[in-house]
Amino acid sequence: MKIALVTGASAGMGREFVRQIAGSAEYEQIWVTARRADRLEALKSELGEKIVPIPLDLCDKASFDTLAEKLKGASATVALLVTAAGLGKYGSFPILSEENAELMVNTNVLGMMRTVRVCLPYLQSGSRVILLGSQSSFQPLPHFNIYASTKAFTLHFGRALHRELRPKGVTVTTLCPGYVDTEFFEVAAKSEDPEACTNFSPLYPVDFVVRKALADARRGKDMSVPGANVKMMRLLAKLLPHSLVMKVWMKIK
Ligand SMILES: NC(=O)c1ccc[n+]([C@@H]2O[C@H](COP(=O)([O-])OP(=O)(O)OC[C@H]3O[C@@H](n4cnc5c(N)ncnc54)[C@H](OP(=O)(O)O)[C@@H]3O)[C@@H](O)[C@H]2O)c1
Repeated sequence: MKIALVTGASAGMGREFVRQIAGSAEYEQIWVTARRADRLEALKSELGEKIVPIPLDLCDKASFDTLAEKLKGASATVALLVTAAGLGKYGSFPILSEENAELMVNTNVLGMMRTVRVCLPYLQSGSRVILLGSQSSFQPLPHFNIYASTKAFTLHFGRALHRELRPKGVTVTTLCPGYVDTEFFEVAAKSEDPEACTNFSPLYPVDFVVRKALADARRGKDMSVPGANVKMMRLLAKLLPHSLVMKVWMKIK
């Protein structure tokens, strides 16, 4: 059975991915995961029986046993995998609590990596993987340090995996958006850090970002960078010394 699997489907970009692919005949089922089961059920009520809610916490290693069993039981082919589960918490490393720092690493890095690993045997030629990186993948971000570091990991991991899976006919697209209008900012919450960022402009609409990511994944691109502003930031981070890029960030954040 051909399926799409979307993590972080209870909100934001994950939910939007599900909405945009729901009408596609490519997938017999769309498996949606997140912790908030009621949100996943609401998505099923909105979009129909094709949606299969699988409530789970990606910080709990046992979740991956559940996922592995379900994939095996369904003899699934994962035609599309989107790893949209993730979070950020503002603040410099000395100010962030150990709990919040580790939550970001566990969700954005380990949770993402384990999701990909569990799906690997079910990816076949033509399968597409979309990982959620960020504009912050391109440069070190003081006062949003751990978050940006998890996203730098995602971008490097995703681009290398794109090469590694090429012989199998599988593509990996790392989506690197700027600020997107989702619940991300509520979760990131106000920080004790007086230097934490407060300027979230421009704020891109979620449907635009997801549409661009799906189009880039269909083209087999290894990166998707939606928006002229974000493309410019990427270029600057490539051309300028990172000491200078960080200085600019400290002024505009
Ligand atoms: N919004 C932005 O400006 C922006 C920009 C660049 C990159 N990103 C990245 O894009 C991804 C999606 O963010 P978003 O903006 O869509 O945020 P969002 O609206 O807050 O959605 C985050 C999703 O992740 C899920 N999630 C978080 N922790 C989880 C866990 N332990 N187990 C399972 N699911 C978990 C949440 O579901 P539950 O709470 O129900 O578990 C929710 O569905 C994140 O990786 C984020 O870092 C966001």
